[in-house]
Amino acid sequence: MAVEKSVKILVVYYSLYGHTLQLAQAVAEGAKSVSNVEVMLRRVEEFEVVKQKAIDGNDAAQKIWEQQQDIRVCSLDDLRAANGVVFGSPTRFGNMSAQIKQLFDSMTKLWLNGEMEGKPAGVFTSTASTHGGQETTLLTMMVPLLHLGMIVMGVPYSVDGMIHNEARGGTPYGPTTIAGGQGELEPKPEDLAIAKALGKRIAEVTVKLQ
Ligand SMILES: Cc1cc2nc3c(=O)[nH]c(=O)nc-3n(C[C@H](O)[C@H](O)[C@H](O)COP(=O)(O)O)c2cc1C
Repeated sequence: MAVEKSVKILVVYYSLYGHTLQLAQAVAEGAKSVSNVEVMLRRVEEFEVVKQKAIDGNDAAQKIWEQQQDIRVCSLDDLRAANGVVFGSPTRFGNMSAQIKQLFDSMTKLWLNGEMEGKPAGVFTSTASTHGGQETTLLTMMVPLLHLGMIVMGVPYSVDGMIHNEARGGTPYGPTTIAGGQGELEPKPEDLAIAKALGKRIAEVTVKLQ
């Protein structure tokens, strides 16, 4: 009897205060719910200067730093091995963080060799404030995905909780959450459910494409 080939979904993120991490875990959970799917959860490398100036001596950031030490740093081979990828970043001035941008900037060889072409992909983010740039971050995160030839996917409005006018996340461009100015808010259950729905959707499409 032929052994079914398992499909690999990579969820790679950066998070300083844990909100994007929670979305990443929900995306991973959604992808894992699809049969024949193996999920790789990875963080991106932290910059030494951020470690020294923003994490060391800051109790909240230190706690999240320690929580993430068991999660492996994303390598180029993880990106190569993945059949589908979901990228997550907190918003920085309406854009992705430099740490996630650094991951994209390290992908020249993969781009030259067309190694990411045809792989389904999606994005998610966290902002401090309601109108802090969730959509701009998500849309600009999609630009490198298009250069890489990936198949960019979002969240359809048929997903529960997508049509709303509440102070919470959930956009057609990707899952989001509102962290609060001091990171004092937690992702709402709807934010996590929408993140889970994107993970499941990307995994299902990736399985179909294999
Ligand atoms: C340099 C910098 C720029 C930021 N720019 C924005 C911004 O444009 N809009 C916003 O709502 N929050 C902004 N924030 C807040 C972060 O988005 C917030 O800390 C993050 O969403 C929390 O996610 P995390 O818990 O995964 O680190 C900024 C934070 C920093 C450090």
